[in-house]
Amino acid sequence: MKRKIIVTSDGSHSLEMEEWGETYHSIHGAIQESNHVYIEQGLMKFIHQEEIHILEFGLGTGLNAFLTMAVLVPKEKALVYHSIEAFPLNQEEYQVLDFPSLLPEFEEGKTLFATLHQADWNREVQLHKQVVIQKLQSKFEEVTVETNYFDIVYFDVFGYQFQPHLWSEEIFKKAYDSLKKGGVLVTYACRSAIKRNLKAVGFTLEIVPGPPGKREMTLAFK
Ligand SMILES: C[S@@+](CC[C@H](N)C(=O)[O-])C[C@H]1O[C@@H](n2cnc3c(N)ncnc32)[C@H](O)[C@@H]1O
Repeated sequence: MKRKIIVTSDGSHSLEMEEWGETYHSIHGAIQESNHVYIEQGLMKFIHQEEIHILEFGLGTGLNAFLTMAVLVPKEKALVYHSIEAFPLNQEEYQVLDFPSLLPEFEEGKTLFATLHQADWNREVQLHKQVVIQKLQSKFEEVTVETNYFDIVYFDVFGYQFQPHLWSEEIFKKAYDSLKKGGVLVTYACRSAIKRNLKAVGFTLEIVPGPPGKREMTLAFK
């Protein structure tokens, strides 16, 4: 399916799936949305830890990984970041993304964003002295992930209206099993069917305010 680069309301880039009209991030601001949903509501809950393990469903542009590094690297915290993606960006796509230039205070940002995308797939890569990344090129439906290993799951798949099967009990069970007890799945979505499926695999839910343009979002605790 064809995709094109777009500019969102906070000036940051995103991608749009042309056939669906579905974007990788909120049109109200890609950086603003990722910061609110994944960083403030997810990462910051574990900021007291010296090492944080994160599993992402949907690497896409790498924005969530980039913002996570932008928080943890200057704080001298260690990060293990695994991300699953079936349809990686090509070089022409990731090279034009403007995220590093929008965070000039993150000195290593430009280099880390490039090496994140250039890193080999399907093996752990030491991206920085504090950062280990593993990009898994696989479908969510087929992937096998570590169990009881992650503090946070960033669940960032396309909307329920386009890919309802990815918001299923089957996929949520993988996310649940991958988390340590006390870990949290964070997602921008909040519709009833999603909440039902999260509860069915054992999560305890908390509904919190969403980013601009979205009333609510979901935190699911193991
Ligand atoms: C909402 S976008 C991810 C946004 C990403 N976190 C970012 O910051 O750019 C959803 C991602 O899921 C990927 N995807 C879609 N269907 C998939 C599947 N069945 N298995 C694995 N990845 C899939 C898409 O290629 C896309 O990169």
